[in-house]
Amino acid sequence: MRARGAAGRDGKDEPVQLAMARRGKIRPGPRRVPKHAQHLVRGLADVFTRLETERLVLRRVTPADSPGLSLTMDALMLTTNGWTAQHASNFLAQAATLAAHGLVSTQAAITNRTTGDILGEIGCRNVDLDRRSCEVGWWIGPAARGQGYGTEAVTAMVRALHDVGIRRIWIGTAPDNVAVRRTAATIGARLVKEARRHKLPNGIVTPSLWFAHDG
Ligand SMILES: CC(C)(COP(=O)(O)OP(=O)(O)OC[C@H]1O[C@@H](n2cnc3c(N)ncnc32)[C@H](O)[C@@H]1OP(=O)(O)O)[C@@H](O)C(=O)NCCC(=O)NCCS
Repeated sequence: MRARGAAGRDGKDEPVQLAMARRGKIRPGPRRVPKHAQHLVRGLADVFTRLETERLVLRRVTPADSPGLSLTMDALMLTTNGWTAQHASNFLAQAATLAAHGLVSTQAAITNRTTGDILGEIGCRNVDLDRRSCEVGWWIGPAARGQGYGTEAVTAMVRALHDVGIRRIWIGTAPDNVAVRRTAATIGARLVKEARRHKLPNGIVTPSLWFAHDG
């Protein structure tokens, strides 16, 4: 998927490729973006380049981020995402590859605005350019949990995605993930689907709740 419009390091517009990250693998989007969706793709590229909140900067991943991101991937993060250690390592390799090629993906590092430390990750996947919908997922590393960073990042991301034209944002989680359920409630997402069988990347089948935020 190619689009023009994200500001390059020299401040000029540069062509960007927005790669869709799915299940820890690189899934490049369609090479040709339909005309009606070009504005949306440019907007997504901008959102995932840099977004600031009061305490955070959500920014594109750089090749130097692997160690910092890796520290945020503990056992809880792996289990709740349904990832194995291999998925985590694929994710890091993919993020580094995209970053090394200067490509904008739909993943952003959540960083502390003051210290620059990496606190977690937020991304969207299953972007449907026709329906203008996507799924948002995120995690916060063990050292930074319970301080409102997740809510702050998701609030800003949801607002920014609607601002660039995404109409419906999906958030899926396990019924026992109280933190995500609370976050969904805080941002005003509605519970619209309860699935009895949701297959995670590691093959485990679990019930899931799906919240929708419409903008
Ligand atoms: C879920 C996660 C992202 C929450 O991030 P966080 O920054 O710690 O969350 P916040 O501090 O913004 O808290 C959000 C809400 O959840 C509550 N909460 C946070 N951790 C909680 C916990 N372990 N148990 C119960 N409630 C919890 C908070 O009290 C808050 O509720 P409130 O707004 O009603 O006060 C983080 O715990 C995490 O990364 N977990 C592992 C990965 C994961 O579950 N990802 C989500 C998959 S969609």
